[in-house]
Amino acid sequence: MSATLSYQSGFGNEFETECLPGALPVGRNSPQRCAYGLYAEQLSGTAFTAPRADNRRSWLYRIRPSSMHRPFAQVDAGLFNGDFSAPATPNQLRWNPLPMPAESTDFVQGLVTMAGHGGPQGQSGAAVHLYAANAGMVDKVFYNADGEMLIVPQQGRHRFVTELGIIEAEPHEIVVMPRGVRFRLELPDGPVRGYVCENFGANFRLPDRGPIGSNGLANARDFLTPVAAYEDVERPTTLLAKFQGNLWSAQMDHSPLDVVAWHGNYAPYKYDLRRFNTIGSISFDHPDPSIFLVLHAASDTPGVSSIDFVIFPPRILAMQDTFRPPWFHRNIASEFMGLVHGAYDAKAEGFVPGGASLHNSMSGHGPDAATFEKASHADLSKPDVITGTMAFMFETRCVLRPTRHAMQSPQLQQDYYRCWQGIQKNFTPDTP
Ligand SMILES: [Fe+2]
Repeated sequence: MSATLSYQSGFGNEFETECLPGALPVGRNSPQRCAYGLYAEQLSGTAFTAPRADNRRSWLYRIRPSSMHRPFAQVDAGLFNGDFSAPATPNQLRWNPLPMPAESTDFVQGLVTMAGHGGPQGQSGAAVHLYAANAGMVDKVFYNADGEMLIVPQQGRHRFVTELGIIEAEPHEIVVMPRGVRFRLELPDGPVRGYVCENFGANFRLPDRGPIGSNGLANARDFLTPVAAYEDVERPTTLLAKFQGNLWSAQMDHSPLDVVAWHGNYAPYKYDLRRFNTIGSISFDHPDPSIFLVLHAASDTPGVSSIDFVIFPPRILAMQDTFRPPWFHRNIASEFMGLVHGAYDAKAEGFVPGGASLHNSMSGHGPDAATFEKASHADLSKPDVITGTMAFMFETRCVLRPTRHAMQSPQLQQDYYRCWQGIQKNFTPDTP
């Protein structure tokens, strides 16, 4: 590979980066002949006519155009799919972590689809996948034509070698891989595990801050996009594509990760969740979790996201005369939660790092019995300093329909409902 690990800071900026001096044309995108004999190619991630603030495209200057591959043929996608036709349940659901595979399994082979709705045909909705992998991708490159992938590593170091450069990420960081960008995942330190939100609709973006002001939540300068890096490799390579819910494979005789220079605002990026500036109440009551919004994907209804990516990082709870953990609730939104590290403050046990829960629209949930008892009698004269934790939520506008596999998985906790069964009746009509 041609370059060392280096990043450009900002969100949705017009980046420009080149491995060789003068590889980027000046003042035009597609000159008659590109420097170094490169081919110019545009990669667009929004409609050509999208408003400027949302418009995403990049110009790639590459050794060979991306069209140079033999025909695709559909291959077995394993448990990675877009089939959400199984009956959905209103039950609260929780899963133990995926076990590490016994056989050699790379990132694409290790993806397990848990739930979703909509799909690539209508360019709306989302899917949630888990993955566990113990092998890097070798002479194999993948792209997802169906959606942008928000990847949440939970275990192990991840090295994404992409068309537009290299991103290394560890647990507590997230990576967003735009629709169509080709990459392979290498595992520098062995097995990895994590979560993926596949976004079939409008791209993720930073939320507006409203009364919070011009700082706080996720700050744009903490989003990191790689500089250009290319490989000039002539070797049989498999190009995998997720297209309309299925997996396709094509053979090539060279690596497609051959972009020597690029400019534009459509590129993968990473963000360290530990840099999130958490905003909360300093008087009373527990705010809505929208206060923890890192990224969201807009729907066609103003003010209503298609997907919210929300985190529950270390924070200090000092609210007075308040039940400090998240309250009991039912929402119109549907909530898929995961845990990167530590413990989540609304659950005493059973929700472990690498595990997941799903509370769909209008399904009641909230603190378990043990957490309710503890928080109801807590000493509020002292703040709760919550450390060593990182939980997150993929919250969606539409119901996340669990896949058949998710409902039959040995990791599904059959007794999850019991965590609310021990809640006491405290009603005393004669005593306020
Ligand atoms: Fe919830």
